[in-house]
Amino acid sequence: MKVLEINGGKTLEGTIRISGAKNSAVALIPAALLADTTSTICNVPDITDTDALAEILKYLGAKVSRASESIVINPTTIENKEIPKELSTKLRASYYFMAALLGKYKYVEMYFPGGCNIGARPIDQTLKSFKALGATVEEKDNHYKIYAEKLVGTHIYLDMPSVGATINALLASVKASGETVIENAAKEPEVVNLAVFLNRMGANITGAGTSEIRIQGVDKLEGCNTEVIPDRIEAGTYVILGALAGNKLKVDNIIPEHIEMLTLKMKEMGVDMEIGSDYIITSKTDNLKPITVKTQGYPGFATDLQQPLTSLLTQANGTSVLEETIYENRFQNVPYLNKMGANIEIDNRKINVTGKSELVGCEVTATDLRAGACLILAALAAKGTTKVNDVEHVLRGYENIVEKLTDVGASITLKDE
Ligand code: EPU
Repeated sequence: MKVLEINGGKTLEGTIRISGAKNSAVALIPAALLADTTSTICNVPDITDTDALAEILKYLGAKVSRASESIVINPTTIENKEIPKELSTKLRASYYFMAALLGKYKYVEMYFPGGCNIGARPIDQTLKSFKALGATVEEKDNHYKIYAEKLVGTHIYLDMPSVGATINALLASVKASGETVIENAAKEPEVVNLAVFLNRMGANITGAGTSEIRIQGVDKLEGCNTEVIPDRIEAGTYVILGALAGNKLKVDNIIPEHIEMLTLKMKEMGVDMEIGSDYIITSKTDNLKPITVKTQGYPGFATDLQQPLTSLLTQANGTSVLEETIYENRFQNVPYLNKMGANIEIDNRKINVTGKSELVGCEVTATDLRAGACLILAALAAKGTTKVNDVEHVLRGYENIVEKLTDVGASITLKDE
C-alpha cells in the first residue's frame, strides 16, 4: 500500500502547472486505434490510468512509445483479440476499447470495466448505442462479446448525458455507414477534445460540446497529431487548495472557463482570487461564507470537484449544503474529514457541512480518487501530521502530485507500507 505523510499548516506559494486531462487522455488513447496510421498525442499525463491503457494497446499488438509528455501509437500491427479481465478491470476507461474495436473491426470481446467505487456505474447506455448501430451484444458473467456485420448510422437518445456513453457512441459510429445523431449527449470539454481528434483523423463530427452530436460516417481515418486539454479537475483541486492554504498560489496552464462553475461558487464564498487568461491565483481567505452546491453535467458543477470542495466548505462560517446528483456513493471522504475535526452530516444524497472547523491531522484512507484528493487538501490545511492510506487511487489521476506540492512548499512524503 502507498501512503502519504503530510505535515499540514504550511503556507503554499509559487506555481503549480496543470497536466493534460486524465478523462480526455483516456478517451484519446483508445481512439487512436481507429486510424490506419500512426497518431501522436501530446500533453498526456503520466498517471497509472494512461499506463493501463497503453498496456492494453500493447497487449493488442500496437506499437506504443512514450517520450516526455507525448505518446505515439502505431495501430497497424493490432490483432483484435479478447482483452483479458485483469486489464479491463484496472480502470473505467478500458471500455472505450469496446467502442473503438467495435467501430474498427465490428467485433470485440472484453470484460466489464473497473473504476472508482463510488456507486453503481452501469454501461447500459453504451450497450444501447451499440445495439442501435446494429451490433449484437452477448453478455455472460461480466464478459461481453459484441459484433456486427455492419454498423449503420442511427438516432441514439441517451437517458442521461453520460460522458462515457457519449464517447462510446462517438467511437462506435465514426466509421458506421450514414449519419448518426446522439441526442442528450454529454457536453464535457473531454468530449469536444475527442471529437477534434477524430475530425483531424478525417471524421465528420459536428455539435460536440452541445447536447446533439451529428456524425457522418467515413470509411477511412488517418493518424494525426493532437493535444490533450488541461485537466480541469486537477486545476480545480489546486485552486481550492490555494483558498485553503495558499499565499497567491498560481495554478497555471489551464482553461479557466472549464472550471467557471467552481470559481463562481468560490467567489460566492468570498475567496480571494485572480482569474487570468490561462491561470488562477488564490490565497487563503478568512470569513468564508457557506454556499449551496448541486453536482450536474457540464457546464454544471462537476461531481469530480465536490469532494475536493468539501474540504474548503469546512472552513466557511455556517452550514453549506452540497447535493450529489450523479453518483450514489461519493461521500466516503466524509467520515475521514469528520475524524479530522470537520462537522459534516450525510443526509441521503446531500451533506450539510457546518464550519468553521479546526482540522487536525490523523490517519485517514483514500477510498477513491477524488476522496483522496479531498483528504490531501484537508491534510495540507490541518494542524499536525496526517497519514493518508491507499493513495494508489490518487496516483491514478494526479500527475506528480508529490513533486507539485513539494515545489510550492508542502511537507509531503510518499511511502510504501
Ligand atoms: N450511467 C448510467 N448508465 C450508463 C452510463 C452512466 O446509468 O450507461 C449513470 C452512472 O451510473 C452515473 C452517471 O450516469 O450515475 C454518470 O456516469 P457517466 O457515464 O457520465 O460517467 P463515466 O463516463 O463513467 C466520467 C468520468 C468520471 C466523471 C463522470 C462525470 C472518465 C473515465 N470518467 O465517468 O470521472 O465523474 O464522467 O459525469 O471519464 C473521476 O475522474 O474521478 C471520475 C469518476
